[in-house]
Amino acid sequence: MEPKEWYYRLGEQTFMVSTKPELLSHDFIQDSFADPIMYWAKPVSSENLKIMLDNSCLVGLYLKSPEPLPSSESPVAPLQSPFNFTQIGMARLVTDYTTIAFLTDVFVVPEHQGKGLGKWMIQCVKELTDAMSGLRRIMFMAKNAPHAVKFYEELLDAKVHDQERSQVVFMSNRTAGLDA
Ligand SMILES: CC(C)(COP(=O)(O)OP(=O)(O)OC[C@H]1O[C@@H](n2cnc3c(N)ncnc32)[C@H](O)[C@@H]1OP(=O)(O)O)[C@@H](O)C(=O)NCCC(=O)NCCS
Repeated sequence: MEPKEWYYRLGEQTFMVSTKPELLSHDFIQDSFADPIMYWAKPVSSENLKIMLDNSCLVGLYLKSPEPLPSSESPVAPLQSPFNFTQIGMARLVTDYTTIAFLTDVFVVPEHQGKGLGKWMIQCVKELTDAMSGLRRIMFMAKNAPHAVKFYEELLDAKVHDQERSQVVFMSNRTAGLDA
């Protein structure tokens, strides 16, 4: 898949969503996996992180810094992101880029939550899945809570397919004309 980027201005701040793997901050991903807010994840070895990133599409959400950061002060590892965007969120598609996509690791750092960035990032993800010519379904799990269900029903045209006490399993509506 060709790399894609989207930009969003909110007051003085500029945000970017990008699929470019070279922009990702491995430290940000590992720190997020370690955060109890991502209760379903935990940090992985750097070798496994590389395998994970090589075999899925991790969509990064970034905040543009007002000035380029000196590399020594950059919160982003300089070799991975040599310019002034700081990663503040992500979503990950595990996919064959054609027929099926599993969405996971949807996260926006708490200080930037509630500004519409999560919805915008998922709309960008939907553009990616809409471009998959043979897509049958997007599947994912979410918190079994009304606000989470509403969020995904509205953004991804998905319905709860199964549920347990704390989690719901979603499938997007079947694409017309395709089986399964
Ligand atoms: C879910 C999450 C990515 C939403 O990002 P965001 O930037 O705050 O989202 P937005 O500002 O675009 O939209 C907020 C909406 O998301 C809804 N939402 C969905 N899931 C949510 C969650 N787990 N926590 C908080 N809000 C959530 C809110 O109810 C709100 O709905 P409203 O606009 O109807 O009031 C973010 O809250 C987050 O990272 N949560 C922790 C990790 C997580 O739970 N990920 C999802 C796993 S299913």
